[in-house]
Amino acid sequence: MRMGMDISGRINRDGAIQSVFVMGLVLSTLVFTHGCKKPATSTEDATTDTGVSIEFETPATPQEKVDRPDGASQAPLPIPQELLGTLGLPELTAGIAAESPLSIDQIRAWLDNPRQHETLEVLLPVGLQAGVANVQGVDKNPLTRAKIELGRQLYFDRRLSADNTVSCADCHHPDDGYGRHTQFGVGINGQMGNRNSPVSYNRILSGPQFWDGRAASLEEQAVGPIANPIEMGNTHEKAVATVRDIEGYRRQFEKIFPDEGVTIETIGKALATFERVLVSYPTPYDYYEIVRNTQAQYAEDEIADLEQDEPELFARYQFARSESRNMSESAIRGRTLFFSEKAACTACHAGANFTDELYHNLGVGMDQENPDPGRMAVTKLEKDRGAFKTPTVRNVALSAPYMHDGSQKTLEEVVEWYAKGGHPNPHLSEKVKKLDLTDQDKKDLVAFMHSLTGGFAPVQSGGLP
Ligand code: HEC
Ligand code: HEC
Repeated sequence: MRMGMDISGRINRDGAIQSVFVMGLVLSTLVFTHGCKKPATSTEDATTDTGVSIEFETPATPQEKVDRPDGASQAPLPIPQELLGTLGLPELTAGIAAESPLSIDQIRAWLDNPRQHETLEVLLPVGLQAGVANVQGVDKNPLTRAKIELGRQLYFDRRLSADNTVSCADCHHPDDGYGRHTQFGVGINGQMGNRNSPVSYNRILSGPQFWDGRAASLEEQAVGPIANPIEMGNTHEKAVATVRDIEGYRRQFEKIFPDEGVTIETIGKALATFERVLVSYPTPYDYYEIVRNTQAQYAEDEIADLEQDEPELFARYQFARSESRNMSESAIRGRTLFFSEKAACTACHAGANFTDELYHNLGVGMDQENPDPGRMAVTKLEKDRGAFKTPTVRNVALSAPYMHDGSQKTLEEVVEWYAKGGHPNPHLSEKVKKLDLTDQDKKDLVAFMHSLTGGFAPVQSGGLP
């Protein structure tokens, strides 16, 4: 697992900037007005980005020249800003300042800048951008810098819990790939539920939330944990009163939600907005796809000509070529397997975010005495017993353990689970069957999932009102 680990900096829980993607901060600027001569030739998956026409408005400046000898073991290059879209820009989650409490003057100056209140255009980082048609929720709850920042503060603020000990980040921490490396979420007074913390990124491409989809939207989901007795153990009334009593918060809510001020709904809207800009960064796999598709569209001499004819496209290709060296031979074989009928992972982990957003029973936990009913608790249909929402596998190497009950510790274990055909039970998905995989096949699948690691923008965890 090179890529994501090399670049993830350590995190200062008391509030220093979290440089999960240190290099991403040093942004060279190049413009890619993506002019493909013919449509993408790859039809086997929706995760390539070459079928999508992305227009970037940033003014063109020459690419910084980065000297790096050949070889995958080198430090990653700074990611060109254009590859991050608008939502992957580090500035969105950088915070007003690092120290807490923020002063009223700092908050006032921030809110007085009209730029913070403009609606952001939704452009996702390369890889995810292919899923832009599935973007959820921003029509009803538009993205603005001010709202993202307010949501960021609330996300890291333990004062939302009954005894000031637990924040959202305590179970969905950037340090742990926005999940938690514990089997179950640990709430106030050390209480534990029976489900693993799912990841809180790429939620912008996801409709119903929770393992069983019981929350219709991210807004609805976000306020659940506050009043959940074993998570943050508070009441909505008390949480609203706490936030309202903090002048820095009150001022932000009044400016951002002028008709509503601080309510549980506006707290939910701000949290959801912050989560919608937690997006996974481009991965070795995504760069590999750019290279593959460019080479499928242009002959070698044509590619050389691009340097003159389409410098932006050429620069993007060159960058991708360099980064795709992190895609090992094993990962390339794993990629073929993942999309193949033989392993059939894309029967469910499909699309830009590698999930069909549907519910399936793999038999996980079905050998327990009282198995978790999963989706059935929502639909009341027997056929949904033990079915859970397909999670994304982007950045999945960062958020062990796995499955709704956190019962599988490694990606190797997960692949073994699929290889043996899950756990037999009356509701096992028809798409889960014993697989005929060699040991090398299994390693390759794991290597492919590691190649889906691109990290995230750095996020400020301090700077609270
Ligand atoms: C005590 C640990 C804990 C805390 C605190 C917590 N969560 Fe969670 N979160 C979980 C667990 C466990 C689940 C899965 C529960 C389920 O599916 O029934 C979850 C589910 C979610 C999901 C759904 C993801 C998906 O794929 O469907 C999101 C989003 C989320 N939490 C965001 C938040 C936010 C925002 C906060 C703060 C207001 C928060 N969480 C606080 C543990 C926690
Ligand atoms: C039938 C649909 C389906 C197929 C086919 C499928 N998955 Fe999954 N996958 C899921 C669901 C649903 C879960 C969560 C199950 C649970 O927690 O009970 C999951 C969980 C995972 C996880 C754990 C992610 C996490 O955050 O906990 C990984 C990794 C994974 N799958 C990889 C694969 C690979 C590799 C393949 C192909 C060999 C594959 N999946 C095939 C639906 C599927």
